[in-house]
Amino acid sequence: MTQVELSAVRKQFGGYVAIDEIDLDVASGELVALLGPSGCGKTTTLRMIAGLERPTAGEIRFDGKDVSEVPVQDRNVGMVFQRYALFPHMTVERNVAFGLSVRGLPKAEIEARLDEMLEVVQLQAFRTRFPAQLSGGQMQRVAIARTLITKPSVLMMDEPLANLDTALRGEMRRFIRALQQRFGITTIFVTHDQVEAMELADRVAVIFNGRLAQYDTPERIYRRPASLEVAHFMGAANIFPGRLVARDRIETDLGLLECTPLAGMDVGATVHAMLRGEALEMTTEPPPAGRQAIRGKIASRDFFGASVTYGVRCGSQQVTVTENARRMVDVGAEVWLDIAPEHVWLIRT
Ligand SMILES: Nc1ncnc2c1ncn2[C@@H]1O[C@H](COP(=O)(O)OP(=O)(O)OP(=O)(O)O)[C@@H](O)[C@H]1O
Ligand SMILES: [Mg+2]
Repeated sequence: MTQVELSAVRKQFGGYVAIDEIDLDVASGELVALLGPSGCGKTTTLRMIAGLERPTAGEIRFDGKDVSEVPVQDRNVGMVFQRYALFPHMTVERNVAFGLSVRGLPKAEIEARLDEMLEVVQLQAFRTRFPAQLSGGQMQRVAIARTLITKPSVLMMDEPLANLDTALRGEMRRFIRALQQRFGITTIFVTHDQVEAMELADRVAVIFNGRLAQYDTPERIYRRPASLEVAHFMGAANIFPGRLVARDRIETDLGLLECTPLAGMDVGATVHAMLRGEALEMTTEPPPAGRQAIRGKIASRDFFGASVTYGVRCGSQQVTVTENARRMVDVGAEVWLDIAPEHVWLIRT
């Protein structure tokens, strides 16, 4: 499989800078999600890796070799798009085999690979149907099969699940993950859905305005965001501005909090403390001595089926707490929020 590397890649459309000096390395066999809001440059990045677009500056390397002069058809990349772009007048099997037919492979080999691929995507029963006779999820599987059958060394997917409903999206995510692991294929997956990126990817590249804001594992991107923008983009968070009074103590409007020290942050610095709502432990009895806990009163409660979100008034501040809905605490109840220092994460201002 192929390792992909972008170094100081820049893309300008006229005077407009779409991608500004992005560095990214995708290990062989890794699944990386490019995540960011609409217009941040995800598709442009993918198109440059595929060879459909030329970087204005910087270098793209496959297995250490610069591919700037390699045209798209020689890069051996496979692309799956949001709109499946199936051939409407061809059956499932002709659609899937298309990439092999145009390469003029022997008929027997095409047939063998086609059978194998239709089995992988569980579409044997649908092989003689036309795209118009398929569901959205089935069409998406045809699109994936059609790409995988050509054995690309890098698989790129641009919002491939955007047209599917929520349940099917979940199913297709697990399907894509399983396929990707089975073939060990280096995959770059574009999405603007945080949950999708975290569920699928080994690493997530968060892109804002053509710049790489953070590149790390889903867990670190979510729990250890590098900026306020990343923190907010990845999900609801309680954020309190404050001042470091020690390497592991921050003074905030919520009180003095013991926190996880951050490298390179000096005492006296103005920073933000982030506390994710589900990382706080809410109790109706005072927690044991020695715990870091603050007192509050439940001001609001929102029920979401599996989870409940509480608005907890703590002095002059409001803290959002998310819990499993196994229990329900009433509005007005006195509570304590047990805040483990490892869940108080510092973010530079
Ligand atoms: N051919 C082009 N000419 C001029 N500007 C372009 C061109 N292609 C893209 N852009 C601009 O570059 C920026 C990034 O576009 P891109 O399509 O990469 O965004 P994206 O992150 O894929 O967004 P979305 O989530 O909406 O698909 C946008 O502002 C877009 O308008
Ligand atoms: Mg796009």
